[in-house]
Amino acid sequence: MRAAALSEFGSAPEVQDVEIPTPAAGEVLVRVRAASVNGFDLAVANGYLNGMMEHRFPVVLGKDFAGTVEAVGADVGGYAVGDRVFGVVTKSFLGDGSFGEYVTVPSAIGLARIPDGLDFTAAAGLGLAGTAAVDTIDSAAIKSGELVLVAGATGGVGSYVVQLAANAGARVIATAHTADEHEHVTALGAAEIVDYTEDVAAQVREAHPTGVDVVIHLAGDAGALLPAAADGGRFLSTLIGSPDQLPTETLTVLPVMANPTPHTLERLAANQLTGDSVVSVQRVYSLDDFSDAFADFASGTLGKIVISID
Ligand SMILES: NC(=O)c1ccc[n+]([C@@H]2O[C@H](COP(=O)([O-])OP(=O)(O)OC[C@H]3O[C@@H](n4cnc5c(N)ncnc54)[C@H](OP(=O)(O)O)[C@@H]3O)[C@@H](O)[C@H]2O)c1
Repeated sequence: MRAAALSEFGSAPEVQDVEIPTPAAGEVLVRVRAASVNGFDLAVANGYLNGMMEHRFPVVLGKDFAGTVEAVGADVGGYAVGDRVFGVVTKSFLGDGSFGEYVTVPSAIGLARIPDGLDFTAAAGLGLAGTAAVDTIDSAAIKSGELVLVAGATGGVGSYVVQLAANAGARVIATAHTADEHEHVTALGAAEIVDYTEDVAAQVREAHPTGVDVVIHLAGDAGALLPAAADGGRFLSTLIGSPDQLPTETLTVLPVMANPTPHTLERLAANQLTGDSVVSVQRVYSLDDFSDAFADFASGTLGKIVISID
């Protein structure tokens, strides 16, 4: 099959022919129709996970996928050949990725059905960013009327978080810089905007001298955002692994690690259909153009970048 893969450490990822994987017990083989780009994929491509996760070369890149079940391994219940599915490749090693024609994934985690009415492009954009957003908002336990700062509101996770926080009744302050970004976050439900190229915490304190109830940190320097939060506030971050990384006497620091359970993925798909919260797809690329997709992701995102796989 054709896949965007890394042949060895230090090499550049390229589209190449690799073996079609075989589903192990508990796995399904998915014929991928669309995938989306996450920061994690760029980190793998750049070799940043060397020493942190086992690499089984060739390492096919990609976490998020949408497609159809091509084959079912032993001990898999609930899925059959032809089912439309989406999710997040969730394995303890790197090697099986979604930027190829086929990928094997466990049926118990990171996999759910695509409901009728949801296309592969949208479904491919939902998985990791949507899960990170849902898990962040669940952990934040936002109460109606609370003031919530979303730093990184323009990205894949942030675009989703802004909608969920607004739906929970929060008054959302979103980071944005360009006119397009302003328009984007406002359409998603942000009530106020701060410019992330200037001091975000100072702008927040100027408008709200006692600070915000909740800071959601998805981009930028976490330490510089601490002063935006009111004493007793919650500080959530997808960028830190432990509260020890952000010492503070006055705030509750909550790291977020996305856990793409079938239930969470089903919630994302349902929200997409009702329109309660939706994935914003900025642009779709072909597999051959995946390096352009990576370059565009790295230079700035407004929602999700999707790769279509014929
Ligand atoms: N812990 C987990 O399980 C988990 C899961 C998913 C993602 N993540 C992490 O969460 C973060 C967000 O993910 P994502 O997929 O949303 O990334 P993304 O799409 O790259 O979004 C980041 C956004 O933040 C904006 N930005 C850049 N610098 C900023 C700053 N100083 N202040 C405010 N906004 C700034 C970027 O704008 P420009 O485009 O204009 O630069 C971009 O729109 C990433 O670091 C990712 O690795 C963690």
